[in-house]
Amino acid sequence: MPRILVTGANGQIGSELVAALRARHGHRAVVALDLEAPRQNGVDAPSVVGDVRDRALLEDTMATHDIDVVYHLASLLSATGEQHPNRAWDVNMTGLKHVLDLAKERGLRVFWPSSIAVFGPSTPRTDTPQRTVLDPATMYGVTKRSGELLCQYYHRRYGVDVRSLRYPGLISYQTVPGGGTTDYAIDMYRAAARSEPYVCFLSAGTRLPMMYMPDALRATLDLMDAPAAALSVRDSYNLTAFSFSAEELAAHLQERVDGFSVTYRPDERQHIADNWPATIDDSAARADWGWAPRYDLAAMTDDMLAHLRDRVEA
Ligand code: NAD
Ligand code: SER
Repeated sequence: MPRILVTGANGQIGSELVAALRARHGHRAVVALDLEAPRQNGVDAPSVVGDVRDRALLEDTMATHDIDVVYHLASLLSATGEQHPNRAWDVNMTGLKHVLDLAKERGLRVFWPSSIAVFGPSTPRTDTPQRTVLDPATMYGVTKRSGELLCQYYHRRYGVDVRSLRYPGLISYQTVPGGGTTDYAIDMYRAAARSEPYVCFLSAGTRLPMMYMPDALRATLDLMDAPAAALSVRDSYNLTAFSFSAEELAAHLQERVDGFSVTYRPDERQHIADNWPATIDDSAARADWGWAPRYDLAAMTDDMLAHLRDRVEA
């Protein structure tokens, strides 16, 4: 049974990935690490409070818990990264470098998420190819592209089995999202579930690639399960489920929630979204390890609203 470390365990993805890994491998096989005490949902499971920039802490955690696999999620996201670019570089790059160095020394396998933020103003915005111009316009995107190249280098030079996905905007109901640009969609769902009006921080026509969290978790686990020989991409795989604009999501919710209203007041996050693709070509992921999403926009919306309404009523 593998022994697994998840950094950023309290985050939007981490909190659900830890639960999925514990369901697969047992509670005690998965160590949750974050800046604040990881939420353990009442289970007796190992956790560590600490900063991924602390190499000694990471090394000690890996030795103490005899770690084989790391899901390194700790990061600042796009909007927070633009507010704190120095911190974004430091957390996103220093943490990854430590994890890769320890993976090289200890023979660990690594999952590290990249993002659609690696693309930029010169990238084709429609059906963005796997191999294309990568000129990120944010510090977050710069750290993601630099991280992709670092992962590829450690794989080629040292044989580290590090795998990566360029997640699109991820939609989920279990946590409040953590400072990203695609967070608007989650905020809109939460407002609709409470039947409250929503003021959107992106313009009505802004179209971005998105995915429901259960598909993102499945993609992550499937990529990590895939035979190494099947993987032709070692910087990071394009990945998508569907794309929608803010006004399309609003219309979708208005069909399900009587009187739901959305107004548009774009702020500085509009500039971030304007430099990201509208749709993604993820054919390499489909060909190499059989990726295919299960949720479309309608199925995701029904599931999101059902869970969020349960929470409103609880
Ligand atoms: P999040 O902001 O919800 O969670 C990040 C977690 O990392 C937080 O719990 C935070 O406390 C922790 N963290 C931050 N700095 C840390 C440090 N120095 N040491 C230890 N922990 C630290 O983010 P998320 O949405 O769960 O994203 C996880 C990963 O997936 C990130 O690498 C992100 O770039 C990537 N990603 C997310 C999305 C998305 O839509 N959520 C899309 C593309 C890529
Ligand atoms: N969803 C993330 C963000 O908006 C993209 O990496 O920052």
